[in-house]
Amino acid sequence: MSRKIEISFSRPPKAAPGASAGLTVLLATEDGGLADGAALIAADAVERAMRVTEFKGKSMATLDIVAPADSPADRILIVGVGDLRTITENDWARLGGQICGKFGKAAKVAIHLSLRGTEIGGAEAAQMAMGILLRAYRFDRYKTQCDDNDNGAGTGTVKVTIVTPAATAAKKAFEDIEAVVGGVTLARDLVNEPANVLGPLEFAAKVKELSKLGVKVEILTEKEMRKLGMGSLLGVAQGSPRGARLAVMRWDGGKAREKPVAFVGKGVTFDTGGNSMKTASGMEDMKGDMGGAAAVTGLIYALATRKAKVNAVGIVGLVENAVDGHAQRPGDIVTSMSGQTIEVLNTDAEGRLVLADALWYCADRFQPKFMVNLATLTGAIIVALGPHYAGLFSNNDELAERLAAAGAETAERVWRMPLGPEFDKLIESKNADMKNIGGRHGGAIIAAQFLQRFVKDTPWAHLDIAGTALGAPANEINQSWASGFGVRLLDRLVRDHYEG
Ligand code: BES
Ligand code: MN
Ligand code: ZN
Repeated sequence: MSRKIEISFSRPPKAAPGASAGLTVLLATEDGGLADGAALIAADAVERAMRVTEFKGKSMATLDIVAPADSPADRILIVGVGDLRTITENDWARLGGQICGKFGKAAKVAIHLSLRGTEIGGAEAAQMAMGILLRAYRFDRYKTQCDDNDNGAGTGTVKVTIVTPAATAAKKAFEDIEAVVGGVTLARDLVNEPANVLGPLEFAAKVKELSKLGVKVEILTEKEMRKLGMGSLLGVAQGSPRGARLAVMRWDGGKAREKPVAFVGKGVTFDTGGNSMKTASGMEDMKGDMGGAAAVTGLIYALATRKAKVNAVGIVGLVENAVDGHAQRPGDIVTSMSGQTIEVLNTDAEGRLVLADALWYCADRFQPKFMVNLATLTGAIIVALGPHYAGLFSNNDELAERLAAAGAETAERVWRMPLGPEFDKLIESKNADMKNIGGRHGGAIIAAQFLQRFVKDTPWAHLDIAGTALGAPANEINQSWASGFGVRLLDRLVRDHYEG
């Protein structure tokens, strides 16, 4: 059970300290700058505590003190912000997360954002609020008992006030940020949800709920997909009794008849590997093999909630890769919607088979400005890049550069990987137009090369998020197994280049 967080912004009071029972948070910089509030609250105690503990205001450092008896506060938390000249937008979010991690049992928190002689803007305050909310996320709906070891656990509401002269601007900036936080939260929930609860049909039902926000949602059934010739996607689904769906979301917030931007997600609600079965160890992680679809759904949620001025399409291919007597076998040959045939040499390389039809359908039906697909596609990308960068593959330099820039701004970072004819050659097949696996090396590139055969001439980028969406190390703004990676990145891409 986690606590509900309520955030508000207020201007600093003229005379009174603004500290009240609960937790008061003050900022300190590396060069000795301290929050204005200190003078009003308990300047002696704060300065003494900093001296005794040699607290230097290093970025993310914290000092937690019990407030002196004559102070209106119970606890005072001093938080280092480092060097104000080099601090980034993302650092403000991390600071928010760091502070949230120290809430303890406080029911009221006041964070003073004014530093002596320095203005901190509304955008920074809103980023801090985002960090607080993302840090507070817990996936605990199946916990019937409170977890005493979890600092964020408990019941009731925490009232957080961010005290800043820029309160009006902060409130304005926070409106859009709250929408994005909602999108990240939705994506995390979808990924964390176990596969017995969330199969293809249940995922499709969650997508359908976006209708409430004004999103047009179509759910294609297996019958409809068969009619469209999606033999590649359906081949993956045929070993599971749970059916397959293709969910199509459209948010038309832009000009009429303006081409949409498009996002496509791999939504394998569980990946056993099929007949090319995975080993038991760690297989539970494959409940998150729909991380790409979750990010696309979370993104469309965010765009619709903040009423983004853009036409956007989201498409997610939803299947379970399971094994029964109907499951496809290594060596089977399927025909994709594009007409190209695929020899399935490994049924565990299923994500690309799902995306092949989803990408083709997207390019064919919508002729979008660009397509970005997201997928927990390969273990090889984790070997190559680890958990802090998603692999970026693209046929378009401008799109790739814009994604890299959005990644740097949001700290959902991407690293560009190569494509090329040498890799494409590796998926030539003796018996069909291509096979679904290549050699032992460069597995993430081979997978991307396979996808490229289904994008026509559309400007396209593929993000392999196997390392970043699931099981990435906890940090200031995420303590959950599922990070929701991709929502903030793509919201920023849209905001920076494709709105208005
Ligand atoms: N879903 C997996 C990739 C994956 C691995 C995601 C670990 C998240 C964490 C994908 O379907 C898969 O099984 N890929 C194979 C491809 C191989 C058979 C060519 C892999 O990476 O081993
Ligand atoms: Mn697989
Ligand atoms: Zn998979």
